Amino acid sequence: MVSGWLDDEATHARELDLAARYSAWAVLSEAGRKKHHGGILFRFPHKLEMERLVPVQTFERDGLVQLGLGKDRLRDREGFELTDRGMGLMAALDQANYCIKCHNQRKDSCRTGLREKTAEFKKSQFGVTLAGCPLEEKISEMNLVKGQGFTIGARAVATVDNRMAAGTGHRICNDCMKACIFQKQEPVDIPQVETRTLKDVLKLPWGFEIYSLLTRWNPLNLSRPLPRETTGYKVLVVGLGPAGFTLAHHLLNEGHAVVAVDGLKIEPLPAELSGVDAAGRRVPFRPIRDIHEINESLDDRVMAGFGGVAEYGITGRWDKNFLKIIRLLIERRATFQMFGGVRFGGALTIDRAFELGFDHIALCAGAGRPTVLSMENGLARGVRQASDFLMALQLTGAAKKSSVVVGGGLTAIDTATESLAYYPVQVEKFLSRYETLCAEIGEHDVRAAWTKEEQQIADEFLDHARAIRAERAAAGREDRQPDLLSLLNGWGGVTIAYRRRLIDSPSYTLNHEEVALAMQEGIRFAEGLTPVRVEVDSFGHAAALDVRSASGATQRMPARSIIVAAGTHPNTVLQREDPLNMFLDGRYFQALDEEGKPVQPERIAKPSAARVLTSLRADGRGISFFGDLHPSFAGNVVKAMASAKLGYPVVSRVLSRRAPSEETPETLFDKLNTGLHAMVENVVRLTPNIVEVIVKAPLAARAFEPGQFYRLQNYETLAARVNGTTLAMEGLALTGASVDRERGLLSTIVLEMGGSSDLCALLKPGEPVVLMGPTGAPTETPAGETALLAGGGLGNAVLFSIGQTLRARGSKVIYFAGYKKLIDRYKVEEIERAADIVLWCSDEAPGLKPTRPQDRAFVGNIVEAMLAYARGEVGPATIPFRDVDRVIAIGSDGMMRAVAQARHTVLAPYLKHEHCAIGSINSPMQCMMKEICAQCLQLHKDPQTGAETVVFTCFNQDQSLDHVDFNNLHERLSQNSVEEKLTKLWINRCLVQLGVRTELVAQ
Ligand SMILES: Cc1cc2nc3c(=O)[nH]c(=O)nc-3n(C[C@H](O)[C@H](O)[C@H](O)COP(=O)(O)OP(=O)(O)OC[C@H]3O[C@@H](n4cnc5c(N)ncnc54)[C@H](O)[C@@H]3O)c2cc1C
Ligand code: SF4
Ligand code: FES
Repeated sequence: MVSGWLDDEATHARELDLAARYSAWAVLSEAGRKKHHGGILFRFPHKLEMERLVPVQTFERDGLVQLGLGKDRLRDREGFELTDRGMGLMAALDQANYCIKCHNQRKDSCRTGLREKTAEFKKSQFGVTLAGCPLEEKISEMNLVKGQGFTIGARAVATVDNRMAAGTGHRICNDCMKACIFQKQEPVDIPQVETRTLKDVLKLPWGFEIYSLLTRWNPLNLSRPLPRETTGYKVLVVGLGPAGFTLAHHLLNEGHAVVAVDGLKIEPLPAELSGVDAAGRRVPFRPIRDIHEINESLDDRVMAGFGGVAEYGITGRWDKNFLKIIRLLIERRATFQMFGGVRFGGALTIDRAFELGFDHIALCAGAGRPTVLSMENGLARGVRQASDFLMALQLTGAAKKSSVVVGGGLTAIDTATESLAYYPVQVEKFLSRYETLCAEIGEHDVRAAWTKEEQQIADEFLDHARAIRAERAAAGREDRQPDLLSLLNGWGGVTIAYRRRLIDSPSYTLNHEEVALAMQEGIRFAEGLTPVRVEVDSFGHAAALDVRSASGATQRMPARSIIVAAGTHPNTVLQREDPLNMFLDGRYFQALDEEGKPVQPERIAKPSAARVLTSLRADGRGISFFGDLHPSFAGNVVKAMASAKLGYPVVSRVLSRRAPSEETPETLFDKLNTGLHAMVENVVRLTPNIVEVIVKAPLAARAFEPGQFYRLQNYETLAARVNGTTLAMEGLALTGASVDRERGLLSTIVLEMGGSSDLCALLKPGEPVVLMGPTGAPTETPAGETALLAGGGLGNAVLFSIGQTLRARGSKVIYFAGYKKLIDRYKVEEIERAADIVLWCSDEAPGLKPTRPQDRAFVGNIVEAMLAYARGEVGPATIPFRDVDRVIAIGSDGMMRAVAQARHTVLAPYLKHEHCAIGSINSPMQCMMKEICAQCLQLHKDPQTGAETVVFTCFNQDQSLDHVDFNNLHERLSQNSVEEKLTKLWINRCLVQLGVRTELVAQ
């Protein structure tokens, strides 16, 4: 209307004057600003004050100055639903119009970066290189076309350089914004416009199919409007994070066949959407008319496992439905095959992959080992690594109230917001299950197995859950939003402790918007603090974090949960697993040029040449590396995508130097479908609480070596459901008890301890499962030694293959097989095959019956049995105890500790001084993918110096009995114990409801 008046100013002078005065009121007065807050009409870009990008206030808490937002800026968050839906069309168009379309002057620095006169990239005041969009997306042109109203056109422009735009999102990367020409005032909010251009296409009828088509056929992409003809080359992509899925896309468009593997469980999608059935066979898929057909609420969605850290790390600020979109873009393609639950280095190795017929291997395995802070009680109960917490949150849930998060990067921010959001969910679920169980079997029975500490924790959970329930009820009555944040802050809330100032933290310098949004959720920030030690309570649980401030004073931050987010290292585990094929250059893999000569990649995501090769064989087969693994591209999602965009031509060039291997893509896919898909063959009950699960997984079975283990899981999508509870397993660490390599069968033995292990009995022959591995390290089984094997209960299953291999190599084996009850014994012949002499020990009289003449029986514990054997009290020792060179103990932590100690006390007079002694450490484990989640950290203490170190148990389970800190192991095994006990009871109840068990009884 105003534009119309402007066409004839004389006639509309009064109206224009009124409009001018109204505008002045809307922009300049308090009331006007309030009325138009959030609108676009009277919005003025504000000036940037670099040191005050987040409007923090300071306040004192626990004797420390902390930073946070004023009460009026806080907002409540409920659970894990998407926290921010992004800009609407109007706001995005406003931003597109705000953009001054610098491409016309070739000054679109958002794309190309801001340059100094010397042509080097400028740096921000905080030292951040302003290189612009890592993908060099045509942002200015996209804004122009979007502003003109061309929905599909704008998407087509952006898709030329950013095919996987669904992965970039409106709150994922802002390298473009930081390099926008507007350096002194608010930059154009490019990620919002970009995401809007995607969403606007997706919501058109057949919108997903239009976007999908644009990623393959894009007339605006002049150099490559269409995918290439099939080349016959086969590339293995390892890891399906942003680098892996983007690379897979580009390689498919190059005409290559691609197989991608990821160690995480990837849940199947409905075959009619993905075009792939649960056995990996291609089936017809239907086009998607309405994008809502595939969208799920983030609160309820199954964690699909596809997308790497974009799935299990980045949180509810990003719409994970986009991951499903990306997955469909590649999964539907006929020359693509994907396998979850396959860790490269386990079932598949470099040599095996080349033998199978791959022409190239592309490593996209992301970041790995988290930095573990060395501080007193740094592995106490209540202290976790951020990656452990975030991954667990997707699978089971983890955080506790009153958290301190240590670190200053985006991981710390995400960890802080998620731990705060999780607490109400956690305690409310606890209360609801508690009430149901109490009503059914009585409060006394529910609490019967709880220790004093567990009772205290449970009571606190219940009190807090009831307070939340009361607040929700009050809010309902008063017709307002519940104020959970005040309750959470009253109980401690979440503070991020960082060693420098807020404005020095990577989260602030790279992505201050995330800091602001986290603070809106109630997160506080405490500056200049170095963690010194964790204080523990009388039960050994974290009670506070002692920190040293800049002045040198030590202060105490009360905290029941301490989560460490102190950075990660590139995931170069493969080099230690396969040192003949892989080489390092510092923290990263060695980079090579296309002739195979070592080079140093530039540390910038826009290098003059993408140095993505790390190995080049004489016959032209090569290995490349991308994303967080690569020094040029590590750090964020879009850089990972850029590594794929810049790196795929290198892969194609190297491939083109040789003919494809003889294996056709079709036969390779068939082989892998048979070899890599794991399926239950049989479930056999061995004792009242032990079952044997036999799984057909030929490649995983063939790669097994004694001592190694697997992660067994069912698929949530296929799991039984009982009254709202999905019976999905957490990953169970299970050893390969025996292997039939010929038939590709692997037998695993499961002790039903309540919880996930109880669900194994529900597995049905033919059911697809995840059997990730083998992982861990093969146990050393030397020739010509005398070995003493000590197995407690389930631990015996691990020793079958170890003892048998030792004997096959010419070693002698004395085997102490220990059980609580007589009925606990299983697989007697396997043990007999593993031993020259077996001492069957049981706590229960009259003892077990040996079936071979050389074997003995003993009533009592394993250490007593060893002593009796050493003293000749159970008959003549045909293999003298003093001959023992090696002790291998596998059982509960208590049993291994007893063996460890007895060697220095009662058994010392009978043992060789220089014998070696190892235990297979049963620490808590989650990913089992070696140095990724860090749940499996185990504290070691040097017995001579007392020096402490930590090891990743899933990398090597076999640890020196004299170095393992068994107190710490015991503590970590009882992390979250009260929740575990309640969950066990709950699963028991579900099994009763399913008719699998007869009675719900407290354990
Ligand atoms: C909490 C958190 C928040 C973040 N927030 C942001 C953000 O807002 N914006 C942003 O741009 N970046 C963010 N990042 C960084 C970003 O997630 C990473 O830079 C990006 O995911 C790297 O992609 P990638 O493909 O190289 O590796 P990853 O995403 O780590 O994917 C690697 C994949 O490889 C698999 N894998 C590992 N080892 C093996 C093996 N041996 N065999 C088979 N598979 C294997 C893993 O399971 C994983 O799926 C965040 C990171 C974290 C931890
Ligand atoms: S986004 Fe910024 S730098 Fe890019 S074209 Fe627009 S105004 Fe210029
Ligand atoms: S690193 Fe995840 S369990 Fe070891």
